[in-house]
Amino acid sequence: MLLSRFWPVFVTLVTVSAVKVNPLPAPRNISWTGSGPKNLAGFVTLRATQDTNDSILANGWDRAWKTIVSLQWVPAATEAPFPSFQPFPTDTAGLSKRAKRALSSIQYVDVAVSDIDADLQHGVDESYTLEVTDDSCSVVIQAPTVWGALHAFTTLQQLIISDGQGGLIIEQSVKIQDAPLYPYRGIMVDTGRNFISINKIYEQLDGMSLSKLNVLHWHMDDSQSWPMQIDAYPEMILDAYSSREIFSHTDMRNVVAYARARGIRVIPEVDMPGHSAAGWKQVDPEMVTCVDSWWSNDDWALHTAVEPVPGQMDIIYNGTYDVVRNVYNELSDIFPDHWFHVGADELQPNCYNFSRYVTEWFAEDPSRTYNDLAQYWVDHAVPIFQNYSSSRQLIMWEDIVLSTEHAHDVPKNIVMQNWNNGLEYISKLTELGYDVIVSSSDFMYLDCGLGGFVTNDPRYDVMSNPDASTPNFNYGGNGGSWCAPYKTWQRIYDYDFTTNLTDAQAKHIVGAAAPLWSEQVDDVTVSSHFWPRAAALAELVWSGNRDEEGNKRTTWMTQRILNFREYLVANGVQATALVPKYCLQHPHTCDLYRNQSVVQ
Ligand SMILES: *[C@@H]1O[C@H](CO)[C@@H](O)[C@H](O)[C@H]1NC(C)=O
Ligand SMILES: *[C@@H]1O[C@H](CO)[C@@H](O)[C@H](O)[C@H]1NC(C)=O
Ligand SMILES: *[C@@H]1O[C@H](CO)[C@@H](O)[C@H](O)[C@H]1NC(C)=O
Ligand SMILES: *[C@@H]1O[C@H](CO)[C@@H](O)[C@H](O)[C@H]1NC(C)=O
Ligand SMILES: *[C@@H]1O[C@H](CO)[C@@H](O)[C@H](O)[C@H]1NC(C)=O
Ligand SMILES: *[C@@H]1O[C@H](CO)[C@@H](O)[C@H](O)[C@H]1NC(C)=O
Ligand SMILES: *[C@@H]1O[C@H](CO)[C@@H](O)[C@H](O)[C@H]1NC(C)=O
Repeated sequence: MLLSRFWPVFVTLVTVSAVKVNPLPAPRNISWTGSGPKNLAGFVTLRATQDTNDSILANGWDRAWKTIVSLQWVPAATEAPFPSFQPFPTDTAGLSKRAKRALSSIQYVDVAVSDIDADLQHGVDESYTLEVTDDSCSVVIQAPTVWGALHAFTTLQQLIISDGQGGLIIEQSVKIQDAPLYPYRGIMVDTGRNFISINKIYEQLDGMSLSKLNVLHWHMDDSQSWPMQIDAYPEMILDAYSSREIFSHTDMRNVVAYARARGIRVIPEVDMPGHSAAGWKQVDPEMVTCVDSWWSNDDWALHTAVEPVPGQMDIIYNGTYDVVRNVYNELSDIFPDHWFHVGADELQPNCYNFSRYVTEWFAEDPSRTYNDLAQYWVDHAVPIFQNYSSSRQLIMWEDIVLSTEHAHDVPKNIVMQNWNNGLEYISKLTELGYDVIVSSSDFMYLDCGLGGFVTNDPRYDVMSNPDASTPNFNYGGNGGSWCAPYKTWQRIYDYDFTTNLTDAQAKHIVGAAAPLWSEQVDDVTVSSHFWPRAAALAELVWSGNRDEEGNKRTTWMTQRILNFREYLVANGVQATALVPKYCLQHPHTCDLYRNQSVVQ
């Protein structure tokens, strides 16, 4: 409320025909008649035909309304082009007009959900319609499921703004028909390389809910640390970074509940059989191999890992599968999503030279290859994973099918997460008949461009470029980041990941997720790496990057994402700045080209 005293000053500076605000992600279809602003009552009541027994709708509207009232939001960036710096029309029309406006002010949000029991699982209908008409005192929302209705709330809370005089307004009339292009819209958080606290995970979920992302892919552990409490093997958390850097069962269930309340699924990933050392080695040292080897990037022929520290599951040792089954089943009981990510990336052959079981297995039959070994894993582990329930859906990284060391025969019902070679691998996987989650590192890896994290690196010890025509590590090179450079929001937003796919191939794309590997990220910077870039992905997979004529709308997205960044910060999500604030306040002044069609 204190803030509202300052808004009138701001309002006269910057606004506004921007009552017609520009929510992110842009709805599939939004139409306005332009009859001007309509007032809101001091309290807007939810009237829902029914609610879930855990009050998804009531809690969702409560959150939205509290945000609307406490933020008294004024769009930070107006939709371009915008005509003039007009202040809001002041209400000089006298009592009769005042009375009229009060009469028709918005007092209710009427929500009708047709299938109240629809569970939050892959493919659930997330569509909604939202309508505010000139003569109605209600916002009318219709949605097949509560999950669609939640999306309507996050749109509505962006449409309702301050009138600059202590009141709230919404532009009338407005009609929205909205639904996502893709059912899988995610970000990936990595709590294995560095710990990320529960509160910071909640912060990501807040940003996701506002941008309608619906999957948190949680890469929980890695070779470096094991943060999850496992009752079957309490010793596993001896490999957490500290006794404070642990996820108890309650913590994990709380994340699931917090996410569910916002329409977000949580899909856990336990990366196996690669990237495995911490935790497992406490249970049975024989089930992991090469854990104490030198990772050997400096003598590449001997390397046992692509980053420190090494460790992979022993695929031939029988005991491995008992531990895997128990851990996997315990975690499956905690995460209600039908989908579970079981890793399967980056197997390093040399690691297995440290395993007695594997070397003997190779010696038994000299025709055996590492591909046979990968197949052994698939044949022995997948039945365990699949066995958890008949509705279980597995995800694996594409490596198990496409890398040099790959299995021969991976069931086609496993969803592949793509990360290498952009369009080429998307095309290969969909051609083979796999459903695909797009996470192409050249476009969507949010950790790229930070330089190398491995220490003792002489390549940084270069004072000048001895020869300008031969780039080195520091001059014209990649600066030590394998996937350099940094992926800007425009890089993400402009990614046409269905380019050149046949219709049959394109149908295999279930969506996209932006990973943030956490070697150089923890609570301090996790939010600024995700946001607002994840919002560019969010719109790409919700309503796409093109307008009705099929032209790229990146230029139009600019003001939307600049406003949304301010909105995230106002909502407590520590999103990084994208431009000097001047660019946000003066649309198009910071465009690279005057020609607005240059991005195609
Ligand atoms: C968008 O909605 C308006 C109003 O309901 C309708 O007239 C128009 O045809 C819709 N446009 C598209 C592309 O669906
Ligand atoms: C909702 O009700 C169903 C059926 O009674 C029950 O199985 C479920 O646990 C309840 N959910 C919550 C969150 O209370
Ligand atoms: C590991 O073992 C394989 C199979 O015996 C062999 O071809 C390879 O050279 C070994 N790697 C190293 C680094 O010794
Ligand atoms: C694993 O178990 C199978 C049968 O249960 C047995 O034939 C095999 O020798 C065992 N392998 C190892 C490496 O212990
Ligand atoms: C699958 O589960 C059943 C019963 O729960 C069990 O008997 C069977 O051994 C399991 N199979 C695998 C491969 O884990
Ligand atoms: C798509 O296919 C066309 C025609 O074969 C080709 O010219 C173009 O380079 C392809 N685009 C990409 C991005 O591969
Ligand atoms: C703007 O850029 C587009 C794409 O490069 C081009 O087709 C068009 O001719 C340009 N318009 C002008 C006025 O230069």
